[in-house]
Amino acid sequence: MNLRLAQAKDRAFVIQMARMACTLRGRPVPSADAPAVVALLPGAADVTVIAVDDDGELFGAAWWHIHDPPLIVDADDEALPELAMAVVEHRRREGIGTALVEALARQAAQRYDALTLNVHLRNPAVDLYVQTGFRVAGAGRGWYGVALRRSL
Ligand SMILES: CC(C)(COP(=O)(O)OP(=O)(O)OC[C@H]1O[C@@H](n2cnc3c(N)ncnc32)[C@H](O)[C@@H]1OP(=O)(O)O)[C@@H](O)C(=O)NCCC(=O)NCCS
Repeated sequence: MNLRLAQAKDRAFVIQMARMACTLRGRPVPSADAPAVVALLPGAADVTVIAVDDDGELFGAAWWHIHDPPLIVDADDEALPELAMAVVEHRRREGIGTALVEALARQAAQRYDALTLNVHLRNPAVDLYVQTGFRVAGAGRGWYGVALRRSL
């Protein structure tokens, strides 16, 4: 498994990962043009890391995006970047998600003091985030959203 920065040709894969990141296991996956999916996608200035094998097959992606309104702001009232990610179903629990978080955190550390994210409190991804240094920072979005923050 290799990690590299995303290129324009990876956009369809990133959209597919955003659709997965927008739903809990067992629930219907939203369409690519659903507002929640569109709101999660990285903008042109945001960074995306892709997990890929030697044959070029893509396994997962993690990126940050700047949400409006922001989940958490820094001391200067500037929006902090929000992480979103997904790994294809047949390659989960192999450490790919952890590797993606760490690679994205290294990229974000070059520009920001912290990385944040919003997670549904029943999403098993909470375990991954706690293990990679995220801590609860307050209420997130919706009834069951939790805001997490990792200092960089
Ligand atoms: C969340 C996700 C990205 C994790 O990717 P992954 O490659 O499986 O993560 P890792 O293998 O690095 O997992 C690291 C640890 O996190 C925890 N973890 C990850 N997925 C878990 C799950 N489904 N249930 C319980 N613990 C889990 C485990 O402690 C795991 O370590 P272990 O396998 O040694 O027990 C993946 O499950 C996914 O794509 N889910 C759907 C999209 C999503 O929910 N994205 C997050 C939106 S906020």
